[in-house]
Amino acid sequence: MRRAVCPGSFDPVTLGHLDIVARASRLYDVVHVAVMVNTSKRGLFDVDERIALIEECTAEYDNVIVESFHGLLVDYCKQREIPAIVKGLRAVSDFDYELQMAQMNNGLSGVETLFIPTNPVYSFLSSSLVKEVAAWGGDVSHLVPGPVLDALRGRLDRR
Ligand code: PNS
Repeated sequence: MRRAVCPGSFDPVTLGHLDIVARASRLYDVVHVAVMVNTSKRGLFDVDERIALIEECTAEYDNVIVESFHGLLVDYCKQREIPAIVKGLRAVSDFDYELQMAQMNNGLSGVETLFIPTNPVYSFLSSSLVKEVAAWGGDVSHLVPGPVLDALRGRLDRR
């Protein structure tokens, strides 16, 4: 069984993330979407909300598993016998940090990182920008799936 993980913060998941998950799900038998918990960073959505949104948005893929993990990505991979990390690369600006993490993870445990070039339609897209634009009332309906749009509206209305 060929397994891979798509890790991230997913606060919240965007159409760019979902494009990478969909493409990974066609390449691997099982794709784990791992919401990595960063205790020093308070998100707009808590981890359970992020998971619920990703599950709703990936329900059509029967080989995608969504879960959270508190710890190192290499430990997540080791525990589940996952040999590959799949990441989207948006632009050259992503490359330095992604290369650093890929080399660190490979050095720690031998896990490989594979990069999928992001669909150019999403090359500028990030969860942070979505939150900022949405917070100021900008239209992000073309950047996030419906359930995330609803969740953003609900969350930002209450502020
Ligand atoms: O969506 P993000 O915030 O760009 O994802 C970054 C993430 C969560 C994949 C990365 O920070 C990570 O792997 N965190 C888990 C902790 C860890 O393994 N750190 C060492 C990375 S070399």
